[in-house]
Amino acid sequence: MTATEFVPPAVDDDAAQVSRLVAQDVSLAYGDRTVLDGLSVQVPPGKVTAIVGANGCGKSTLLRGLARLLKPTSGSILLDGRDIHEQSTRDVAREVGLLPQSPLAPEGITVTELVGRGRHPYHGLFKQWSKADDDAVAHALELTDTLDLAHRPVDELSGGQRQRVWIAMVLAQETGLLLLDEPTSFLDIAHAVEVLDLVTDLNQRGTTVVMVLHDLNLAARYADHLIAMCGGEVLCEGDAASVVTAANVERVFGVRCQIVPDPVSATPLVVPLGRHHV
Ligand SMILES: Nc1ncnc2c1ncn2[C@@H]1O[C@H](COP(=O)(O)OP(=O)(O)OP(=O)(O)O)[C@@H](O)[C@H]1O
Ligand SMILES: [Mg+2]
Repeated sequence: MTATEFVPPAVDDDAAQVSRLVAQDVSLAYGDRTVLDGLSVQVPPGKVTAIVGANGCGKSTLLRGLARLLKPTSGSILLDGRDIHEQSTRDVAREVGLLPQSPLAPEGITVTELVGRGRHPYHGLFKQWSKADDDAVAHALELTDTLDLAHRPVDELSGGQRQRVWIAMVLAQETGLLLLDEPTSFLDIAHAVEVLDLVTDLNQRGTTVVMVLHDLNLAARYADHLIAMCGGEVLCEGDAASVVTAANVERVFGVRCQIVPDPVSATPLVVPLGRHHV
């Protein structure tokens, strides 16, 4: 058969919709303190998902579980249908990248060195640093607008600069699944919007993203799917219109609000009330 006669295989719609990352009846605990108790979520494939919820409700704990950093006390996390704890750290790290909420950089490390650590899952006894690694690091620095910081020590950067460098590190990992815990914290409004636009760009190129966001308006605008958590449980999930309602905001955060259409994206915009503004 010549190349011109090649007929692409039919796409199986059901297979294309299968979630690669699933939490099945998962309980996660720190010592004897159980934070999530029998929680189930399926990360929608090919989409951007935002997890929202009050401080301490278990968002970061869920991301740590999904990234294999925390082992469930019961239930399982499945990556491509297999228990994530039956797969090696390196194999998982080639598929799932995590930006933790408060990462700590080794003392004295430079930006390029830190971003280069994102390439560790690709190295081993027989595979040393390569041109592909240089390219991945340079590309990640460019995408996060941190090229000019490349030679600076990470501990001398501002909070927002450091946050962008950590995002660069997880981008250099080049995974199909990205878990971002508050990627816009510390960022000024321009860089916050830039990072979320970058999330959309990556998603359009095929990356599945799950991010924890505290800004409900940006979550509603940038996520295809929202998961609202409350007290270690999923209160509701769905598109922005069904999740970001005045009733849900009051249930999750105990704050009354009005919802108006975002004049730019037409997604729900939360206008909180307060004791002085009702
Ligand atoms: N390392 C830890 N050891 C013990 N308890 C922890 C640990 N990390 C988190 N917790 C507890 O687990 C619960 C959930 O914490 P988690 O960090 O998942 O919340 P979160 O929803 O991400 O909150 P935030 O919005 O403040 O980041 C909290 O009660 C917290 O005190
Ligand atoms: Mg958190």
